[in-house]
Amino acid sequence: MAQMTLSRFLIEEQRDKNVISHDLRLLIEVVSRACKAISIAIGKGSLAGVLGSAGSDNIQGEVQKKLDVISNEILLDANEWGGHLAGMASEEMELPHVIPNRYPKGEYLLLFDPLDGSSNIDVNVSVGTIFSVLQCPEGMEPGEQAFLQPGARQVCAGYAVYGPTTLLVLTLGDGVNVFTLDREYGRFVMTQENVRIPEDTREFAINASNARYWEPPVKRYVDEMLAGKDGPRGEDFNMRWVASMVADVHRILSRGGIFMYPIDSKTRAQGGKLRIMYEANPMAFIVEQAGGAATDGRRRILDIQPEKLHQRVPVILGSKNEVERLASYHAA
Ligand code: AHG
Ligand code: MN
Ligand code: MN
Repeated sequence: MAQMTLSRFLIEEQRDKNVISHDLRLLIEVVSRACKAISIAIGKGSLAGVLGSAGSDNIQGEVQKKLDVISNEILLDANEWGGHLAGMASEEMELPHVIPNRYPKGEYLLLFDPLDGSSNIDVNVSVGTIFSVLQCPEGMEPGEQAFLQPGARQVCAGYAVYGPTTLLVLTLGDGVNVFTLDREYGRFVMTQENVRIPEDTREFAINASNARYWEPPVKRYVDEMLAGKDGPRGEDFNMRWVASMVADVHRILSRGGIFMYPIDSKTRAQGGKLRIMYEANPMAFIVEQAGGAATDGRRRILDIQPEKLHQRVPVILGSKNEVERLASYHAA
């Protein structure tokens, strides 16, 4: 059979299966083109002068890298004129982006972390883009309130990972597919269909430098794994931490694992480290659609009612049996 390009896949989802609308198809096409443009900008690196700091802070009080700003602009410019969106919100902008009056409006809300893993850009380690799509509630203006929907209402989520290859990982709520960027033809081609995360794993991901701030359930869970063969688990575990959530999640999608950015005494005041709307929700949706689980320790991530656009949340996700074990330590 001819290659299953992203375009063909989307046309078939719309025309033959009727599971997505014309506008959602357009939205995903446009986001994938924006990711291609971001991938090209990242690939040029110092040759295009895109590395380093932008000299500004974002709404989260974090230093913006030039590529944070460039990626945000690529996504905004690509998406505002197509007529498929009611509004956009980004980790890099305080308020939702209003679609200019000269363009038609659609029913979807697009949320994104334009560049995830910024601390890795300048050292040439994988980074990514994460996105989430919601429907704008009927009769509602696309202001902050319209975006504050639980992750379970997402109609689509995905991420691009800019690694040795550029991949686009997508869910429309019916499994997860992986597309690889064919740089010569400039198109994404499906390379994995209906990916499943193994339920068991012996690999975990956490920033261990925060160990002294962790809560007792996380401490117990990690200590038991570190004890290996001689400990209560009776087997050895391996550890990985890329510090780009996209790269860590993609490894888990590929071979299993558990990813943790739990609440700790350092991040308690702000509710956690990762952002619910741009990071936790889309990744939780993808991971659940691949047979994994995602919790904040106490609640399923996708059930949380967000109260603020830039709200942060603890995140524990990946192989089901390990996520459930850690959740049970929280309940104990
Ligand atoms: P961003 O670059 O969008 O701000 O996100 C970085 C996030 C996430 O990708 C990663 O898992 C985590 O921050 C790494 O945090 P530490 O530097 O504390 O390990
Ligand atoms: Mn991020
Ligand atoms: Mn980011």
